Amino acid sequence: MSRVVHSAGAALVSCALAGTLAAQPATIRQYQYAPRADGQAYELVLKTVPRPVPGPHDVLVRIHATSINGGYDVEMRDSKPGGENNATGGIPFADGAGEVAAVGADVTRFKVGDRVAGIFMQRWLDGDRTADAFASSRGGNSGGMLAEMIVSDEQSLVAIPKHLSYEEAATLPTAGVTAWNGLFKYGHVKASDYVLLEGTGGVSTFGLVLSIAAGAKPIITSSSDAKLERARKLGAFGTVNYRQNEDWQKEVRRLTGGAGVKQVLEVGGQRTIAKALEALALDGHVALIGSLSGFAEQIPVGPLFGAGAHLTAIYVGSRADFEAMNAFIAAHEIHPVIDRVLEFEDAPMAFELMAHGDYMGKIVVRVR
Ligand SMILES: NC(=O)c1ccc[n+]([C@@H]2O[C@H](COP(=O)([O-])OP(=O)(O)OC[C@H]3O[C@@H](n4cnc5c(N)ncnc54)[C@H](OP(=O)(O)O)[C@@H]3O)[C@@H](O)[C@H]2O)c1
Repeated sequence: MSRVVHSAGAALVSCALAGTLAAQPATIRQYQYAPRADGQAYELVLKTVPRPVPGPHDVLVRIHATSINGGYDVEMRDSKPGGENNATGGIPFADGAGEVAAVGADVTRFKVGDRVAGIFMQRWLDGDRTADAFASSRGGNSGGMLAEMIVSDEQSLVAIPKHLSYEEAATLPTAGVTAWNGLFKYGHVKASDYVLLEGTGGVSTFGLVLSIAAGAKPIITSSSDAKLERARKLGAFGTVNYRQNEDWQKEVRRLTGGAGVKQVLEVGGQRTIAKALEALALDGHVALIGSLSGFAEQIPVGPLFGAGAHLTAIYVGSRADFEAMNAFIAAHEIHPVIDRVLEFEDAPMAFELMAHGDYMGKIVVRVR
């Protein structure tokens, strides 16, 4: 008896899904990576494809905005087709946010109309990262976001803070979660801690707005006085132009009254790590994140011991980390720093801007 009732219920639910899907377009546009004519890298092609269909545990998301990550997306586009990335046919961009358009019959986390963002590693939900979670990173595969609609397992999405626009929410999954984990999960940043942020890219500007909200004292470097001025307006405690001041680490330490910084979001790599360690306070924490000036193959051990430093290598974060960050962002009504918003048709330009342009914070692509 109960089986009959259950299957009647399931039929009703799948009819409802069919109804919602019928209201959706039959085709959508999505960008894909295709091997460039010279075979040395990928280029973007805009395709019209059948609208994806959600399975029982999936959500159909109408993407409203996506954002690019230079170190990840540009590297993927510029990698050799047939190599380890194998991105042919994959959808670019790990980051994106949108609105739930339909849900599969067994979905319980979301309903039609909910505002969501994708998590970077689709199967890293909580706890330690696994090899399987690592293999589930979005971008350059079917999990990419540069599309009018995507289908995602409901587990691989989070609700986005109400006060954020879709453009703002689309910047959270990679740069935001990385900065959050560096400062809060592993750095345990406290009010009044001095925090060093290198340059004014995506991760560092998230470090800026998050640490300001925590009552910490961020000191940010840049090659541009205009960007430093903007950072001061956002609430930076101190600023240093690393292009004009070769020994910028000494100025950073001076700004802390000689004590040094308690936290570093180390995104610079080869040209910054040794200097960042010179600016580090006793028992300070360094979040190893990036390689903007090339990988730091050699880290000087002397200053590490001298400071009794704590080092954590960060690889974005889990869904639980993303949700913890979102709660903080909502409680403090934090807004990400966005440099500009491009239209969907101009998405290839985002790669050029990231590779060669001048920007502060995040570059977003609007999809609707
Ligand atoms: N481990 C992870 O999970 C993870 C996650 C996200 C990103 N990353 C990596 O972290 C790094 C930063 O990512 P992002 O997305 O924030 O990059 P981004 O937005 O592309 O940052 C670009 C900015 O970095 C600054 N910069 C470049 N070279 C610098 C140097 N030598 N010293 C100081 N600042 C420098 C410049 O700032 P100014 O214009 O102000 O000078 C530049 O505008 C990248 O290497 C990326 O691959 C790692």
